[in-house]
Amino acid sequence: MRADDVVDCHVLVIGSGGAGVRAAIEAARYGETVLVSKTIAGKGGCTTMAEGGYNAVLRQEDSCDIHYKDTMRGGAYLNDPELVKILVQESPQRINDLIRWGAVFDFTNECEIAQRPFGGQRFPRTCYAGDRTGHEMMMTLVERFDSSGATKMEEVTVIDLLKEDDCVIGAITLDENGDMINITADSTILATGGGTRVYDISTNSSSGTGDGYAMGYRAGAELIDMEMVQFHPTGAVYPYDARGRLITEAVRGEGGILKNILGERFMEKYDPLRKELSTRDIVSRAIATEIANGRGTPHGGVFLDVTHLPKEQIETRLPVMLEQFLTYGVDIRIQAMEVAPTAHHIMGGLKITAKSETTVPGLFACGETAGGVQGANRLGGNALAETQVFGKRAGEFAGQERKRAKKINPVQVANVQKCIDDFFSGSENPARVKKELQGAMWQGAGIFRDEAGLRRALATAERLLQAPLKAVGPSGPAECCIIRNMCLTSILICRSALIRPESRGADMRVDIMQDWDAEHSPFGHTYISKDREGIIRHGATA
Ligand code: FUM
Repeated sequence: MRADDVVDCHVLVIGSGGAGVRAAIEAARYGETVLVSKTIAGKGGCTTMAEGGYNAVLRQEDSCDIHYKDTMRGGAYLNDPELVKILVQESPQRINDLIRWGAVFDFTNECEIAQRPFGGQRFPRTCYAGDRTGHEMMMTLVERFDSSGATKMEEVTVIDLLKEDDCVIGAITLDENGDMINITADSTILATGGGTRVYDISTNSSSGTGDGYAMGYRAGAELIDMEMVQFHPTGAVYPYDARGRLITEAVRGEGGILKNILGERFMEKYDPLRKELSTRDIVSRAIATEIANGRGTPHGGVFLDVTHLPKEQIETRLPVMLEQFLTYGVDIRIQAMEVAPTAHHIMGGLKITAKSETTVPGLFACGETAGGVQGANRLGGNALAETQVFGKRAGEFAGQERKRAKKINPVQVANVQKCIDDFFSGSENPARVKKELQGAMWQGAGIFRDEAGLRRALATAERLLQAPLKAVGPSGPAECCIIRNMCLTSILICRSALIRPESRGADMRVDIMQDWDAEHSPFGHTYISKDREGIIRHGATA
């Protein structure tokens, strides 16, 4: 393709995880749809790595009302109630779509979809395919996509959204040869997943770099609650290369027990009722506290033990965990795992309506790129459900948008081209910049936060955003742009955290005293855009 090529379509979907592919399948019903992926579609996002499950109300004894209340309570009441109602009501229909399209979830002997308990939920409503649920979903979605009529452009990196006046009209991209391709669209969907790769230790695939937050912000969209970063309680602690890799909550759902080096089941102290199946914010802080107080394991974690469970249960329900730990030299049927918290999910993101519209005309967002559904702390199993419910909605409502005249602004394209050219005469090693950023974010914007630490992380991210990155090879400029997105995402996280004057859900401020609990907080969403930033105060106008 030549450098000045333009692709035109009705709907452009950016991102090929669960939300993006689901959106594209739906959008293709309304007109020409193009999905752009910086990796191979369906292979690079976080959905395919999701292990534990998908929450849906499927049993008489359960109800949407209980799922709604569990989600709101787990989210420290910061969730957007309208979006949560949609999530709980539509997730059963969306899992049925997947099953109709061929996804093989585990079933009970009574031929019903099997469900397991997950943290913070009063009913075992997490559906699963062993401990490779996301992989099963992605294989199904990609197969369905292939017959949907939508087209895909793989190993193409979106550099920025194209704007005409106040509207988004597509995107500027670079292909794997470093050639620029502009894509115009009547509507554009950001489904680029999350961004916890900005942290040193993370469960995210290497594509979790916050591109959607950064591009949305630059295009003028408003983001909410960006300070809300979830640390999954159980990531691998060794070997070094596996640090942070997800050890699914399903291990605890199946009965796994957390113990410190003294053999104490410490969750009895932090949440006597729910213990290991407390919400992730509480379990992560408990583990971090045990480690900080010298009760960690030699590798710097705590023990996660399933040796009391029947071997057959481990082999059939947790086969990936079993295999993974065998490669680390640990047989989890007879030895405990060692685990520690790892950055996992960003609950904040682009502010959306029930139709997945952002605050910028022509721009939609879904999945982890959007904020509001998961509040201040997400329940395990609600992310996969969100990808399907809001992926479908984004595709549907973007598809229903009118055709618009799309005129590419040559100044915008020339600015991007200049930035790309500048990278070839840069001096800073991008890998070094990324490493410094990740270390600063882990230190200053981690599980326990204070103002001084956040300001240090913010100053580092601001400095690194200006670093004269050096591009090497055809993919060099795209890599540099992605690192700048990571810097900007980090800035959004730190600035939002500095705005919120309380501890709430996953955002724990050790330097703030407060006399209210989450349900009675005087504060709502933080918001941040190029035009304004602040926090909603209940009873006052923003
Ligand atoms: O622990 C897990 O399997 C992760 C699930 C999730 O984040 O929803």
